[in-house]
Amino acid sequence: MNAPVQLPDAQVVTRITHFTERLFSFRLTRPRSLRFRSGEFVMIGLPGDNGRPLLRAYSIASPSWDEELEFYSIKVPDGPLTSRLQHIQPGDQVILRPKPVGTLVHGALRPGKRLYLIATGTGIAPFASLLRDPETYERFEDVILTHSCRTPEELTYGERLVAALPEDPLVGAHVRKLRYFPTTTRAQSAQMGRITDWIADGRLAARLGLPDLTPSTDRVMICGSIGLNTDIKEILEARGFKEGANAKPGDYVVEKAFVS
Ligand code: A2P
Repeated sequence: MNAPVQLPDAQVVTRITHFTERLFSFRLTRPRSLRFRSGEFVMIGLPGDNGRPLLRAYSIASPSWDEELEFYSIKVPDGPLTSRLQHIQPGDQVILRPKPVGTLVHGALRPGKRLYLIATGTGIAPFASLLRDPETYERFEDVILTHSCRTPEELTYGERLVAALPEDPLVGAHVRKLRYFPTTTRAQSAQMGRITDWIADGRLAARLGLPDLTPSTDRVMICGSIGLNTDIKEILEARGFKEGANAKPGDYVVEKAFVS
């Protein structure tokens, strides 16, 4: 019997969880040499038909201390990569380029009092990493995670993440600082509507019992669709927030939820 072909930069699938027809998460072995900052992304993929790797950017959802790497993905029926990636099984190989980069990192934000993490859909992935990193709670007095999805089922990944945090050995003691604010837009849930509306008209702050968002105390990380990112950016810029980057920390940072 022939030995299986070893892909370049290959990692092995250890676990897959399907949440809905559109969403799944998977875990890969971690290259020993891979170091990353919570919130960064890497390129992941499978061999393409032309023999060249078919790669897409994926935020690492696991914390930087984890032995494995976790990813959270949409399934696009005719998407070149996700139409195939959604069928991976434990033991399969996935290509992972071990060069993490990204702007949703603590180093790109100025010090502040509160950290808002604003996600739609799979944009929660980098925040799943940051929420399991003790630095997130050391840097801020309050951490607010908002997650908007179409339906309650699509909130499941975030709900499980938040529910597991109190038992987490590294951050469990700090989790009282976290406020979780899920909303849905297309099916009934406790809180309905686009997060842009909740922020723009001050309802989010009122509901959380916090002052309205202001650059003097608040820092924001945004990860969602292009439309969400643009709309939140506009709201923040109008309030005087300045965008940050690795080389120049600011009041907010933004990255799109990549595979769509
Ligand atoms: P909506 O259902 O009103 O489009 P998707 O599954 O398409 O990635 O969307 C995930 C969530 O992000 C949905 O709840 C969607 O709301 C919301 N969303 C998409 N675009 C925006 C935007 N520009 N501002 C606020 N929320 C948005």
